[in-house]
Amino acid sequence: MSIVLPSQSSMLSPSFTFGVATASFQIEGGVDHRLPCIWDTFCQQPNTIADNSNGDVACDFYNRWQEDLELIDSLEVDAYRLSISWPRVIDINGELNPLGVDFYLQILDRLKKKNIKAFVTLYHWDLPQHLEDDGGWLNRNTAYLFRDYVDKISHAFGDRVYSYATLNEPFCSAYLGYELGVHAPGIIGKEFGKKAIHHLLLGHGLAMQALTKNSPDSQNGIVLNFTPCYPHSDSKADRDAANLADQHFNHWYIKPLIDGQYPDLINQIPMQHRPDILPGDLEIISADNDYLGVNYYTRAIYRHDDVTQFEQVLPENVPLTDMGWEIYPDAFTHLLTSLDREYQLPPLYITENGAAMPDSIVDGKIDDNDRLEYFQQHLLAVDNAINQGVNIIGYFAWSLMDNFEWALGYQKRFGLVYVDYNSQVRTIKRSGHAFAEFIKQRKK
Ligand code: FCB
Repeated sequence: MSIVLPSQSSMLSPSFTFGVATASFQIEGGVDHRLPCIWDTFCQQPNTIADNSNGDVACDFYNRWQEDLELIDSLEVDAYRLSISWPRVIDINGELNPLGVDFYLQILDRLKKKNIKAFVTLYHWDLPQHLEDDGGWLNRNTAYLFRDYVDKISHAFGDRVYSYATLNEPFCSAYLGYELGVHAPGIIGKEFGKKAIHHLLLGHGLAMQALTKNSPDSQNGIVLNFTPCYPHSDSKADRDAANLADQHFNHWYIKPLIDGQYPDLINQIPMQHRPDILPGDLEIISADNDYLGVNYYTRAIYRHDDVTQFEQVLPENVPLTDMGWEIYPDAFTHLLTSLDREYQLPPLYITENGAAMPDSIVDGKIDDNDRLEYFQQHLLAVDNAINQGVNIIGYFAWSLMDNFEWALGYQKRFGLVYVDYNSQVRTIKRSGHAFAEFIKQRKK
């Protein structure tokens, strides 16, 4: 099986960017060479991580990055999306840590040499722990400290970066981290999530100002995740429930960025759950982005509930990934076309898409046809959206290699490359070979 797109697809043109993505905490290890972050602390707490693991070693990218860049090169990609560990590059006094900066400078220089575009995410969830001790994203000051970090690091990186993303999936940082408490820092309470997201978005807006100053030639923007919300039945109550969930989980994050306001729902939620918005904040938050990054994995289904108003229904008898996420590529097309209809969007990159599958290694090979099929279907879904007029200019597979999947530890494998965590040996899966072959043919 191979990946095939219609011959007239604009995704086959050389100007469309294909890449693979990772994040610092999920792959680096090298924990002794940086400050602790909220994920280190979270992993130490009981019952937080499914396999009781942590990020101390992960894929040992800290020591194996040269070999891993060769691997990336062998996948024929145009671009590599990586994230910078804030606690590795900024010391306890808020100054650059030369050891950490040098680590990334070497990587960026090597990527440049190989003609692979560097897509750098500045915050993929690893907040320095000492900032969490001061309130983390519930403290408005963290937004200003984020701006200072971005100012310093983007100055140090000079012109090495093709594209910056300020934040990855602020929904996860705010809602999973400060409301449900299933991600670091593990804070639970309905009153916290929307306060945290406001400070994250403010941090994005302030960081964009620093990027515009220090790196005017790179494409600068933000990465959001979307889980389209579908009604369980056609009843009005279920449709309203799905719409309400959509406002909470999707529009709450994009609307302030593009339209400079939160959804009208803000007037209906209890006063103590609302964010503290100061005059001028929404102007800072909604300054123009060069692009918007869209991450998509699955959809969610909701029905009306008398107490909570909406309740998620788990799908039955449908194809699922190893995460238990429904495989539903049509929702991806629909998401992209409906965002395009509702908002004045900048060009879009698909910054993450992929699937965890129960891989096994047999005779040194991983025949992950299920993952390959997922990629095929979802690339077609993107192509479909482009054909309907959506301006999409790149696609990144999540992930380059198996890695630390947050609260699920090392049990869930998303990689195009298999990682044996005992030996740290990497083996390209069938999906990885197919992805490389597809990109290579396109380049001819
Ligand atoms: C996204 C995260 C990424 C990875 C994938 C599976 O929410 O951005 O780090 O864990 O999910």
